[in-house]
Amino acid sequence: MKLLFKGICSIAFILCFLEHSYCQMNTEPTRIMINPLESGAEGVAVTWRVPMQVDVGNIQYGIATPHPVEGLSAFNKAEAQGRIDTVDYNGVTLVSKNYRVKINDLLPGNKYMYRVGSDQYGWSEWIQFNLPSENSDSTFTFIYLGDPQNDLHSQWSRVIRQAYATAPDAYFMLYAGDLVNRGYNDKEWGDWYRAGSFIHRMIPSIMTPGNHEYTDVILSPLWRTHFTLPENGPTGEEELYGACYFIDYPSVRVISLDGEQIDEDPELRLKQLEWLENVLENTIQPWTILTLHYPFYSTKPNRDNPKLRKAFKPVLDKYGVDLVLQGHDHGYGRGMVNETGPGNKGTMYVVSVSGPKMYDVGNEDWMQARGDNIQLFQVIKTQNDRLIYKSYSATGKLFDSFILEKSTDGNKLIEN
Ligand SMILES: [Fe+2]
Repeated sequence: MKLLFKGICSIAFILCFLEHSYCQMNTEPTRIMINPLESGAEGVAVTWRVPMQVDVGNIQYGIATPHPVEGLSAFNKAEAQGRIDTVDYNGVTLVSKNYRVKINDLLPGNKYMYRVGSDQYGWSEWIQFNLPSENSDSTFTFIYLGDPQNDLHSQWSRVIRQAYATAPDAYFMLYAGDLVNRGYNDKEWGDWYRAGSFIHRMIPSIMTPGNHEYTDVILSPLWRTHFTLPENGPTGEEELYGACYFIDYPSVRVISLDGEQIDEDPELRLKQLEWLENVLENTIQPWTILTLHYPFYSTKPNRDNPKLRKAFKPVLDKYGVDLVLQGHDHGYGRGMVNETGPGNKGTMYVVSVSGPKMYDVGNEDWMQARGDNIQLFQVIKTQNDRLIYKSYSATGKLFDSFILEKSTDGNKLIEN
């Protein structure tokens, strides 16, 4: 009898211990990311990570209310798709599980709120995001960041936080590649999420991959693990999914090219070129913004990208792309260049850096403004026929600015 009692006590202890451990394990969503859908004013995708035992993921969403959430009847609910990804880094295979869901048919010009998770495993907090107006004349603001790449938690964090503090009304944050230093290293991605914290789940992100997201010309699986970006690039080219695509807002079409594949793969260079020409030909937005990691014009002579320029520059000139946002050179330079060379007509090319890794900047003749050894972010606004560009330092001080004004013979550059 004594033995039986002891046995029952031991089993009860083990059950209590297991239950306690289970309760202690955090099964709530982590690494929550919001990306725009192809029609950025009408839909977003949300992606998040969960522990392996989580077998359900949902989103609840609706127009944001100023009142406390008391019932869920006012909110829509959608089931998310679960996916398991593997990535090899330094001889170790990481298996991770994530959920993703696209919500569309949202009403432009509204503030929405959402949360992700499930009753069984826990929910995120309620998170708000803004959708721009469907009126292309209204002010439209976004943030552009050059390479974060290094010391993400310790040194890049202050830049993204200052950017958010400077332009909390931004409708998206654009990253011009090299978000991390080693794209296959999950820990660095963890640092990227820690640095951006709630900003990554509040302001939709648009990102183009850089060479540091690649190894042997293969994009890290962690890119598509973390981000849900449009798959409207060249038809059937899966290597370019989430890397070459476009996103439309009423006043702006944002186009991402996969710079690494342009540099490394002649076939994918040609595919992207043909696709870009078609996308530009069919652009109806007043402003066209192109992003890719490698610069058309570099801030140092030994970092030139002639293959890119030779293939793509004539198309940019032909269709009058307004602004090209780039990274890779770890310095700052911007200038307008047209068919005949630098001047105050044509396309405005910008290279910028937000992380702490710095390279010297030369005195290339295309640059109308330059800067080295400075962490920056840019706040860009379109207002009807004006594009107002401001570059700020990590401390929030204005560093460079200009205005592009649409006129019958192209954009007029106003330095201020
Ligand atoms: Fe790079």
